[in-house]
Amino acid sequence: MTSHPQPPQPLALYGPDFAADPHGHYRTLREHGPLAPVRIAPGIEAMLVTDYQAAVDLLRDTHTFSKDPRAWQATVPSDSPVLPVLGHRPTALFSDGAEHARYRDAINDTLALIEPHILRAQVAGVAQQLIAEFATTGSGDLIAQYARLLPLHVFVTWFGVDPADGDRIVDGIGGMMNSAQGAAAAYADLVDVVTRLVADRRARPRRDLTSYFLAHPARLDNDETVRQITLLMSAGHDPETNLIGNATLHMLTDERYAGSLHGGAMTAHEAINEVLWQDPPIANLAAHYPRHDTEFHGVRLRAGQLVLVSFGAANTQSRPATSDTGVRSGGSAHLAWSAGPHRCPAKQPALLIAMTAIEQLTSQLCDAELAVPVSELLWRPGPFHRALVHLPVRFTPLDTLVSVGPDREPARRPEVPIGS
Ligand code: HEM
Repeated sequence: MTSHPQPPQPLALYGPDFAADPHGHYRTLREHGPLAPVRIAPGIEAMLVTDYQAAVDLLRDTHTFSKDPRAWQATVPSDSPVLPVLGHRPTALFSDGAEHARYRDAINDTLALIEPHILRAQVAGVAQQLIAEFATTGSGDLIAQYARLLPLHVFVTWFGVDPADGDRIVDGIGGMMNSAQGAAAAYADLVDVVTRLVADRRARPRRDLTSYFLAHPARLDNDETVRQITLLMSAGHDPETNLIGNATLHMLTDERYAGSLHGGAMTAHEAINEVLWQDPPIANLAAHYPRHDTEFHGVRLRAGQLVLVSFGAANTQSRPATSDTGVRSGGSAHLAWSAGPHRCPAKQPALLIAMTAIEQLTSQLCDAELAVPVSELLWRPGPFHRALVHLPVRFTPLDTLVSVGPDREPARRPEVPIGS
């Protein structure tokens, strides 16, 4: 028997009300115990874990919970707007056990080739080019003109995408996230570009991550390689954009940062850490499906039903005193990167990209401030991501970019961030 009183109706976790006040929704849900029913799209219900300990237990319990959505997916209309994110693909994210370990080894070993100092210089170069495109105007939208484009440029270089295909990668990833109707077509186009890339590198390897994937001892075939690369691009892009956006907003609005990017005493590192606790870029995800009927933290779950973890709710359960390392005073870490076997494999490069991107903003656009009141900022209304629609700023127009230190050399040619 479920020992927690359940709400009369699942709470809607999408739309403008949720986007305006996610933490208010999490508080309401917590009144119903460690898990509570939510609606993530019209007609699509899930159980949402809001309790920190229950979240950690679920993420580690591979005996009770599977990541394979196919049985659940069979019960959902094929045009449901949540399927571009939750629908099955043959990747690490939707597999368990030995299959997951094989994909995951290839992903981990390939990402481990990224040299931090080269990545840092690469991101700085991309950042400078992007900032230069709007710096002379004295205003810009840091989401559309910066945070959304920067990770795409990084990925295109990592995987050795032909610059002529760069726009299709950008449109493919953007389309998957934004439009329910166009999402399937956008994913198909992304797969098409990456399929040609993989076939080309199979025939003519180069020094890029695509070629390293193909050479990995896991011996992924072409389609498996295409799917894992597509996963890296699509799983990585949106949260990276949102981490840069949310942490920059934090610096612009928190009084300790003095309302402008360079006015305060705290660092990009601290802003990022606080955002990972308070407003993690992936707010609600880690879709899991019970392998059998079960009772979990006092709540009855049916085999195959959709269970999501609220990283946003679990992290903020009781506002912890946090240290610089992302570990709270009681010793537990935030869950913004998830936990267990499916935790983010790209935490280190993802942090470095966000940190470098924000440091470039603070040094180039020192007096940037919000161009609209914070109450007028719009957040994307979906259930999964904590994502600004826009981040309009104004600043003193620059004639040319400030150049300080070796990182500030504009990159002449993008360099793949892997060592020799
Ligand atoms: C700020 C940036 C990022 C955040 C906050 C983040 C967070 C997460 C979280 C919470 C998960 C678990 C998702 C789930 O189980 O449903 C995850 C998984 C994953 N992330 Fe990240 N991520 C970020 C950036 C990236 C980047 C840049 C990449 C790739 C280059 C990446 C690749 C992946 C992959 C492949 C998985 C699936 C791992 C698996 O299932 O074994 N992430 N990430």
